[in-house]
Amino acid sequence: MGSIFVIASGKGGTGKTTLSVNIATALAGFGEKTLLIDADLGMPNVGMFVQIDPISTNLYDVLKGTAEINDAIYDGPSGLKVLPCSLSLKSYQNSNIERLKCSIETIKNDYDHIIIDTASGLNKNVLVPFQVAGKIILVVNDDVTSIVDTLKSANVAKSYGKNIEGVIVNRINGNLENNLKSKIQNTLGVKILSEIPNDPVIAKALSLQTPVILKYPNSKAAFTLKRTAAMMAGIEVPDYKLQPAKSVVEKVGFFGRIKAIFG
Ligand SMILES: Nc1ncnc2c1ncn2[C@@H]1O[C@H](COP(=O)(O)OP(=O)(O)OP(=O)(O)O)[C@@H](O)[C@H]1O
Ligand SMILES: [Mg+2]
Repeated sequence: MGSIFVIASGKGGTGKTTLSVNIATALAGFGEKTLLIDADLGMPNVGMFVQIDPISTNLYDVLKGTAEINDAIYDGPSGLKVLPCSLSLKSYQNSNIERLKCSIETIKNDYDHIIIDTASGLNKNVLVPFQVAGKIILVVNDDVTSIVDTLKSANVAKSYGKNIEGVIVNRINGNLENNLKSKIQNTLGVKILSEIPNDPVIAKALSLQTPVILKYPNSKAAFTLKRTAAMMAGIEVPDYKLQPAKSVVEKVGFFGRIKAIFG
């Protein structure tokens, strides 16, 4: 049995689903048996990211007790398995998130990694995933509100005795200043695992319903996401599988040299 990672954030829109989808797809691409669960019961959208239409059996049916968990798991990209959730309001009202605990128990040995995408904030739909988590990954942006809001998530996770693996800072423009890095790490009391650039290819990939690591594999965002996935899983991935294609590196090198010449 591998790890159950819960991707969480105090604030909405920090990039939890984007990171969950791409990290899970990357792990599957590395040959790891990986399941991605959409536990954002109120606003589920993992299906949209990976072209799975969850109108048939989905997580709600599992949480209502009317379906077995394996009947709600679908094939995603790169061999990833996906447990989506539907947008039905009625199903949302009838679902019991507590059932997630025993459902995961029945399948956890089938996977090397389970990645759980959660809602923002601290309602019950987030607290149950926290309880089943092996490792919690926090997601913040480089603004004060997302950091302060996520402090509450960190404190709740710690109160459950959970291991917070670290924090991913997403949507960074340029470089993250050392001052802000220390603020994030000191406020949340955890280390920064990874810094993901603010990259327009992420929105483009979403509009094409394909993980950015597959649609734009040579982008910097894809590279950092794949590297993050490898680091989280503690697996050695050869550089050639992570690094941008040679032509891109050469281009960067060329402009880098021009910049150096003209200051
Ligand atoms: N690194 C990035 N660069 C550019 N755009 C990004 C990046 N990460 C996420 N986005 C964009 O930000 C928006 C919100 O991302 P996402 O849905 O993953 O956030 P979330 O935390 O899951 O939101 P919610 O709290 O509503 O579930 C999306 O439009 C996504 O394309
Ligand atoms: Mg989301």
